[in-house]
Amino acid sequence: MKFFIDTANLDQIREAQDLGVLDGVTTNPSLMAKEGIKGQENILNHYKNICEIVDGDVSAEVISTDYAGMIKEGEMLAALHPQIVVKIPMIKEGIKAIKYLTSKGIRTNCTLVFSLGQALLAAKAGATYVSPFIGRLDDISTDGVALIRQIVEMYNFYGYETEVLAASIRHTMHIIQCLEAGADVATCPLSAILGLLNHPLTDSGLEKFLADYKKVNG
Ligand code: E4P
Repeated sequence: MKFFIDTANLDQIREAQDLGVLDGVTTNPSLMAKEGIKGQENILNHYKNICEIVDGDVSAEVISTDYAGMIKEGEMLAALHPQIVVKIPMIKEGIKAIKYLTSKGIRTNCTLVFSLGQALLAAKAGATYVSPFIGRLDDISTDGVALIRQIVEMYNFYGYETEVLAASIRHTMHIIQCLEAGADVATCPLSAILGLLNHPLTDSGLEKFLADYKKVNG
């Protein structure tokens, strides 16, 4: 399973990249706003800066909601850097835009996906990635990970090539559950990735190894 980091914060992206296990980055307009990135020129420069830090795919989201606007923005974002994947919302115009951009060889990430039917449309339109938001489903008492499992099963059964990118991951256990559900990618906050490192037996085991070493070596 690939690991993307879900942030527009350059320090966090660098920290995850330094770990050596990062495969890409996802951003959205809220994450960009959280970092205070505003104005088209600054936004585009920020995407370029992210691409310079990581080796993998970087999702950059359109803010248009009409077909022509999404195409124009999508082409502009894709032209920024070969690592850019254009993030398009799961709406009627978005599906048409994904179909068009795919036909032009531009990779896409269909975002704001909350149902199996939406995932089917994204795959049929040729999206490179589909992003089901598991945390937001959990927030409304619906099993987000179950949706990941359903989409993976449906894509495997019908042979769709769209990759399942589990999004809206809130904690480390979500990553484990996505792994078990067969997600191709999990996009996670840095804290959830670092949480994978933790085990009390690792800590106590290391403490004992070092203490035993010190006993005989001084
Ligand atoms: C990533 O592609 C999504 O935009 C993001 O994971 C949404 O996460 P949230 O539900 O925590 O805002």
